[in-house]
Amino acid sequence: MNIKKLSKVIKQPEIYEKGDSVMWTDNHISKKLLEIHLNPEIDAASRTSRSIDKTIEFIEKYCKKSTMNILDLGCGPGIYTEQFAKKGHNVTGVDFSENSITYAKNQAEVKNLDIDYFCMDYLELNYENQFDLVILIYTDFGVLLPNERKRLLETAHNN
Ligand SMILES: C[S@@+](CC[C@H](N)C(=O)[O-])C[C@H]1O[C@@H](n2cnc3c(N)ncnc32)[C@H](O)[C@@H]1O
Repeated sequence: MNIKKLSKVIKQPEIYEKGDSVMWTDNHISKKLLEIHLNPEIDAASRTSRSIDKTIEFIEKYCKKSTMNILDLGCGPGIYTEQFAKKGHNVTGVDFSENSITYAKNQAEVKNLDIDYFCMDYLELNYENQFDLVILIYTDFGVLLPNERKRLLETAHNN
C-alpha cells in the first residue's frame, strides 16, 4: 500500500462515517487475514473451530430443516459454507475479499463441494424468494451504518 493511501486509511473517522473496506480487500492485508481465518486456534477474522462447530450446531437445531438454501454474507474463506454444504444444504457465499473468495472457490473444487461463491459487496446484493436462511457471522452487522443495517435486514426479511 502506498504511503498516501496509508495516511488516509489510518485517519480517525468521524462518528458514523462510512468505513473503508481496505482491511479486507487490500491484497497484502487480506493475505495475512486469510492465514488468521484459517487458524482454528485464533479467535480473530473467524472464530475458533470449537465456536464455529457450536454455532453451526445452534443454527441447525434452531432451523430444524434438513435441507436449506443458505446465503452466507461475508463468508470469508468459506469455513461455514463448507460445513453447511457437507451437511447437505445448498449454500451461496458472498464476500468482497478477492483472496478469500479465490481460496474458497479452490477449496470447494478440491473437496468436490457444490457451493456458489460471489466476490461482491453484500450491501449491493438484491435477492428475492431464494433463501431459507441468511447468515452474517462474526460482528459484521455492528460495523454497518444504521441505513445499511435497515436495508440488509429488510432484504433478508422480504426474501
Ligand atoms: C469478521 S470476517 C468473518 C468471516 C466469516 N463470516 C467467518 O466468520 O469466518 C468478515 C468478512 O466479511 C467480509 N465483508 C465485510 N464487509 C463486507 C461487504 N460489505 N461485502 C462483502 N463482504 C464483506 C470481509 O471481507 C470478511 O471476509
